[in-house]
Amino acid sequence: MTPKMLARAAIARVGQRPAPLSLSYEITWLCNLSCEYCDRHTPLPRELTREEIFRALEEFRILGMLHTHLDGGDPLTHRDVDEIVGWLRQQGITVSMNSNGILVPRKLPTIRKLSLLKISLDGPRDSHDAMRGSGSYDRAVAGAVAARDAGVKVEFTCTVGRHNVGAIDALIDIATALDIPVVFQPALNSLFSGTDRDGSSWQLDVQSIRATFARIEEIKRRSRAVGNGWSSLRHFRRFPEDTRPPCAAGWVLAMMDPEGVLFPCGQLNRSDRSNSVRTLGAARAFANLSRAGCQQCWCARLVEGNYSWGMRVHRMLPPLARSPRPLGGAR
Ligand SMILES: C[S@@+](CC[C@H](N)C(=O)[O-])C[C@H]1O[C@@H](n2cnc3c(N)ncnc32)[C@H](O)[C@@H]1O
Ligand code: SF4
Ligand code: SF4
Repeated sequence: MTPKMLARAAIARVGQRPAPLSLSYEITWLCNLSCEYCDRHTPLPRELTREEIFRALEEFRILGMLHTHLDGGDPLTHRDVDEIVGWLRQQGITVSMNSNGILVPRKLPTIRKLSLLKISLDGPRDSHDAMRGSGSYDRAVAGAVAARDAGVKVEFTCTVGRHNVGAIDALIDIATALDIPVVFQPALNSLFSGTDRDGSSWQLDVQSIRATFARIEEIKRRSRAVGNGWSSLRHFRRFPEDTRPPCAAGWVLAMMDPEGVLFPCGQLNRSDRSNSVRTLGAARAFANLSRAGCQQCWCARLVEGNYSWGMRVHRMLPPLARSPRPLGGAR
């Protein structure tokens, strides 16, 4: 968060005045990969048109949007992504992006406009390609290097599951050599809560995931290659128990899907599709959002943003070294 965003977020919180300062926008579910754990790689039937996109973004700008995070699918596959990023920057809105990295070398003029590019990297070649498809590791690394060399801030996102649990140290070595930090987060059954998808083939059992995150904590004590803040690592100590962090969703955050349906954040159940920016406009759709939070917050940067928003400074400090906790253990 920029100082301006922090100040505005504090005003929203203290004055109980919600405003969509940061919009996460899944611009399309089109993707050039079909990773096994992912449920967002087929375009939705009625994704917003170019005109609807710009109308919605302009409405969010008027409501106070300072930052847009583009997500997907893969945002770089969207036909209008260059124009969208260019327009947002012209309005003084900062833009970050999640990507698999594949199209980055071809899209450098747009990539240069980003404040942060997050590229998924699940491990060394074998582990990454096992989940994301043959050749995807080389293309992710090539994308990351191209963006880094263009002067863009880059970080890797590593989704931790069965496919890469034995490869954390090897990934840290790669990240160290590239001078690009990795942010780790647990693989979930689905990116949405409340689904009954069977994620057993990629999810780790609780003890293994806790042991892995304990290892990541150890590495962070001596290496800058772990990009997680302490607040997300402390939080992941309890995965997957119900754990309620402070929650900025609906207060200063919102998430819009490719059809213009607005949610407090992307991790919640999406079965109710009535809160549409396309039909209600951004102001009404934002006003309708729940601000109740939830107990299953496992996306690293969301968790960290939430503890900052909640001003839980003590959660951001390194904890005492420890061994993995049993289920139900104290924080
Ligand atoms: C849905 S992707 C979209 C952006 C881009 N295509 C990419 O792969 O980075 C965003 C992030 O969600 C993660 N992801 C996908 N399926 C997941 C799951 N079941 N649990 C946790 N994270 C998941 C991906 O690894 C990626 O880092
Ligand atoms: S994780 Fe990203 S790259 Fe993989 S299928 Fe999903 S959207 Fe595409
Ligand atoms: S606590 Fe729940 S609603 Fe709030 S940001 Fe986290 S996942 Fe989203």
